[in-house]
Amino acid sequence: MTPHRGAAHAHRSSSSEQEGTLRPAAAGRSAALRSFTQLQKVAKCSFGWRKRGSKGSSNAAMWAEKLGRQLGNPSRSMLGWLVSKLLRVRNKGLEENAALLCGIQPGDTVLELGHGPGLGLQSAAKMLTASTGHLIGVDYSEYMHQMAKEKMKELIANGKVTLHHCDVAAMPLEDSSVDKVFHCNCYYFWPDLRKGATEIHRVMKPGGLMVTTLRYFHLVNLASKRVMPGENWRPEAYMAALRDSGFTGVRMEDKQCKNLTFQAIYATALK
Ligand SMILES: C[S@@+](CC[C@H](N)C(=O)[O-])C[C@H]1O[C@@H](n2cnc3c(N)ncnc32)[C@H](O)[C@@H]1O
Repeated sequence: MTPHRGAAHAHRSSSSEQEGTLRPAAAGRSAALRSFTQLQKVAKCSFGWRKRGSKGSSNAAMWAEKLGRQLGNPSRSMLGWLVSKLLRVRNKGLEENAALLCGIQPGDTVLELGHGPGLGLQSAAKMLTASTGHLIGVDYSEYMHQMAKEKMKELIANGKVTLHHCDVAAMPLEDSSVDKVFHCNCYYFWPDLRKGATEIHRVMKPGGLMVTTLRYFHLVNLASKRVMPGENWRPEAYMAALRDSGFTGVRMEDKQCKNLTFQAIYATALK
């Protein structure tokens, strides 16, 4: 979703892909770049990067809506697979920075919301070196849940990581059980920001920190092409929902890391 040029990741087949639903070509950077080129072709049709008539604009609107749906809930389909490739190639830096900025301590219980293919989970897991350190991930896309499960299978088997296939608005987690929460490119798709924020607040320990990273100008661009559903992508909307749900210290900061410029929203659970 974001145009960060991180290292491409070798593709690992998920169980369903092994069953033959989708068979990506060779693993690695070239495959990721190839898929990105394919997605760019889709985007060119979608967003009228080429001049078109009125039929072209209705096609563009249809494709923008399709792409938005896949970004919000990637499905096991060709477009869903391309979106998952795009997320892996472009969002590595944003995911890593979200995990870093929430100040994970080795023994923390950490939660990632809308983990997608699982790059942020991999970064956070490396920081949880104490035996009490535990990582939880939630995503309501069955496809992303399975993909991340495959990626994290050893850590899941030894109890370090737990992944839930569920909605952020209804997580199977105890009250006040999580120290740190992070997410990237996720809240834009929640139909009810207040419900999501209230649920995050419920599961967080008093004083726990939540961080979300985003690329604001990229979002503005996607919203102008009608890829984003409604207005919930706006940081002010999310920050208002966080304040209304009992968070304090809610703010957005501009960040720069290597060649990546992005924004981070911080919020502390007041209880
Ligand atoms: C655009 S993708 C971002 C994935 C990853 N965080 C990244 O930045 O590459 C959004 C992800 O959030 C998940 N998601 C969106 N709304 C959700 C909700 N209400 N509950 C759980 N997961 C959600 C989607 O299924 C998808 O995997």
